[in-house]
Amino acid sequence: MKDIVKSIRLIKPNHVEIEQINSPTKKDTDVLIKVEAMGICGSDIGAYRGTNPLVTYPRILGHEIVGTVIESGIGMPNNIKVGDRVILDPYVYCGNCYPCSIGRTNCCEHLNVLGVHIDGAMQEIVRHPAKLLVKAPSMPVAELALAEPLTISLHAIHRTKVKAGEHVVIIGAGTIGLMAALVAKIYGAIPILVDILDKRLEYAKSIGISHCINPSKENDLDIIRSITNGKMAEAVIEASGANISIQNTLKYASFAGRIGLTGWPKTETSLPTNIITFKELDIVGARTSKGEFEEALTLLSTGKINPNDIISKIIKFDELPDYIKELSDNPENYLKIIAVF
Ligand SMILES: NC(=O)c1ccc[n+]([C@@H]2O[C@H](COP(=O)([O-])OP(=O)(O)OC[C@H]3O[C@@H](n4cnc5c(N)ncnc54)[C@H](O)[C@@H]3O)[C@@H](O)[C@H]2O)c1
Ligand SMILES: [Zn+2]
Ligand SMILES: [Zn+2]
Repeated sequence: MKDIVKSIRLIKPNHVEIEQINSPTKKDTDVLIKVEAMGICGSDIGAYRGTNPLVTYPRILGHEIVGTVIESGIGMPNNIKVGDRVILDPYVYCGNCYPCSIGRTNCCEHLNVLGVHIDGAMQEIVRHPAKLLVKAPSMPVAELALAEPLTISLHAIHRTKVKAGEHVVIIGAGTIGLMAALVAKIYGAIPILVDILDKRLEYAKSIGISHCINPSKENDLDIIRSITNGKMAEAVIEASGANISIQNTLKYASFAGRIGLTGWPKTETSLPTNIITFKELDIVGARTSKGEFEEALTLLSTGKINPNDIISKIIKFDELPDYIKELSDNPENYLKIIAVF
């Protein structure tokens, strides 16, 4: 095995480099993974820009990771052996706190997310807890890197209890919102996608999301009222992180409606809570994901969600610093960029 491996490291905000680091050593309960493909996430860009308060520097990026097991560890799932291709479940939980004790490990009080709180996996070889692996189905390695972001969309849909026949407004047509809209459709619901970028909405239409609204140009409330025959949407998912969109969720929801908040706003949002009481709304947070990797992989490997609809570009590992800068400068030009070795 190599002694020195390449990694993608933020030295400080706005400064990303390929850095040679020592090949990782592992504990008994860890595995070693030869990394093969990785997605660049909005949170990697937030870390690059210095706008994510959870990130400390220096920091190796990356949590949307596919690789092959090269050394096993205690706790590795029974269906995985050395040489198998896997997806990393990147949410490292403590196992002892209250949310962990009730199985909601994604809300662990001490959650460490790869590339955010602890070093990530944009490196040739990475150490990872053996129990946090999911076996990959047979499909192109770059496409497998979509599994993690798809689990975020699935978690939003599940937390909001979206059912067949319901209207679901999804705010934000980025990777997370667009995939949530595609999942809503697969579940037999009727997605209504809201974004302020026409380019994003036109793209969503081209891949089958027929109800798309730009609230900066159109009357969003009138259109949603008309699509829902006056009742507004049973479910609303916020996936933009904009304060105004969070406020709009209360307007878009029907009486007795449900709202899921997935977007990470940068600042506090004030809400007219009388509307929450008046409409008796259920509002839930949706953070990372829990137990949703298998479903994500099935949706991708069966083509129910076409990976090519989401992947904008596949690059080489060595191009990552350039594309992290490019994504920071022109985020609207790409949905998902995946790097491969
Ligand atoms: N909860 C979690 O665990 C989790 C995980 C991943 C991402 N996120 C968050 O989810 C959100 C979406 O992530 P993404 O990767 O798809 O981001 P993205 O930047 O690709 O997409 C966000 C979209 O929101 C749109 N938008 C911005 N302001 C808007 C407004 N006022 N009204 C309507 N649309 C607006 C943008 O044009 C863009 O298309 C982000 O806030 C991100 O931080 C949360
Ligand atoms: Zn991500
Ligand atoms: Zn915990």
